[in-house]
Amino acid sequence: MRLRNVKNKEEILTNSSYVILDGNKYYGKWCELFGNNNPIYIEIGMGKGKFIIENSLRYPNINFIGIEKYDSVLAKAVTKIDGDIPNLRLLRLDALNIDQVFYKEVSRIYLNFSDPWPKKRHHLRRLSSRVFLEKYEDIFVDKDEIYMRTDNRDLYIYSLESFSEYGYKLNNISFDLHRSEDDLVTTEYEDKFVSIGNPIYSVVAIKDKS
Ligand SMILES: C[S@@+](CC[C@H](N)C(=O)[O-])C[C@H]1O[C@@H](n2cnc3c(N)ncnc32)[C@H](O)[C@@H]1O
Repeated sequence: MRLRNVKNKEEILTNSSYVILDGNKYYGKWCELFGNNNPIYIEIGMGKGKFIIENSLRYPNINFIGIEKYDSVLAKAVTKIDGDIPNLRLLRLDALNIDQVFYKEVSRIYLNFSDPWPKKRHHLRRLSSRVFLEKYEDIFVDKDEIYMRTDNRDLYIYSLESFSEYGYKLNNISFDLHRSEDDLVTTEYEDKFVSIGNPIYSVVAIKDKS
């Protein structure tokens, strides 16, 4: 996501009780931070945070963590939070290090409109590539569950193959999510693409370890 530099981003991030700058210290104990044992859902690459913030308001019995690697983008998300949302945190993290931050405590990952990395030599940077699937393996509580949405057909097909090769079963495959479902919590990118008539591709990839 291209975003102009937010000048006072450091101040916004350090003053926000929602922001976690050093996730490593909660490794294996995020439930202590939330003060309950409710399931933890994370969105990797949350951008400006609409999806994760709206979900946390809609589902108070789930703990939501939005992950973003760029400070300016994260700061934008912070400014969108209105009121007190105890089941929400925003984490500054490059997902390449996600396995150093969570250990067997995540119930669901959302990958929404992830960067497509169109050049073949960059495909392993995709958040659904085997490089990342390997890192996600130990962060899940038991069942691995990835909810993915994108407008990018090439990334979508690549991801279906990647999930499948890695042992995930593919559920709820849709080549036009908004035609079959309403009342969806949407992301900023999604709203933009839907408004210009682009179809949204989605899948729920599940790997049962038992
Ligand atoms: C195209 S935007 C989509 C934002 C949002 N999910 C939406 O749908 O509106 C992708 C976001 O993922 C973030 N991102 C990309 N790679 C990441 C990584 N390795 N770790 C954390 N965030 C990442 C980018 O900085 C950007 O904000």
